[in-house]
Amino acid sequence: MTASDFATRDPALQALLDHLLEGIAARADTWPGGPEALAQVRGALAGSAGPSPDAKPPEPPPVVPAMLAQALADGAAAGGSAASVAEALAKVSPQITWYVREGLTPTCEDFADRHALATIIGPEDRPGVLEVRSDVRVGISLVGPHTEYPDHRHPPEELYLALTPGEWRQDLGPWFEPGPSGVVFNTSNILHGMRAGATPQLALWCLPI
Ligand SMILES: [Fe+2]
Repeated sequence: MTASDFATRDPALQALLDHLLEGIAARADTWPGGPEALAQVRGALAGSAGPSPDAKPPEPPPVVPAMLAQALADGAAAGGSAASVAEALAKVSPQITWYVREGLTPTCEDFADRHALATIIGPEDRPGVLEVRSDVRVGISLVGPHTEYPDHRHPPEELYLALTPGEWRQDLGPWFEPGPSGVVFNTSNILHGMRAGATPQLALWCLPI
């Protein structure tokens, strides 16, 4: 069963998920445990979901109007999985609710203005989630230029698909650059962070729960 078997999902969201899973699948085997995590995400996304709540979205953090269009264009220009996902994401973009991550130690004074997250599939308490689910989360990180998203950890494993340039690190190790269409896999509770260079960093993430 694939995510495309899901009959009632919005077609634009379905297309985004199909491209995302395809993009991660192309690189997941570069990480021990990556293919297994992807199989769990794929299996969950093929199942049925709860209704999406109907809430009025709040104003997005400033980085979204300032940088999202450029990040999507950078992803589209990169070719490969980054391009197909960026183009699919652009079509879903009007439905997305962006928010600021609370509870992390900010890396700069105006951190709240320089990053944004969106949970498109996940628990009901995330703002503007498009599909309520408890078995898988899919979301987006947008990090403004020259901004670091703080190191953090969480029990679920995490697969990222990078749409743009930008770096990651794990366990406070050296920063590495997967590049557009690159995949990063975080094992359960590993400390990890990301940072943008001169251009915005855009990535999608999947967490099997
Ligand atoms: Fe994370």
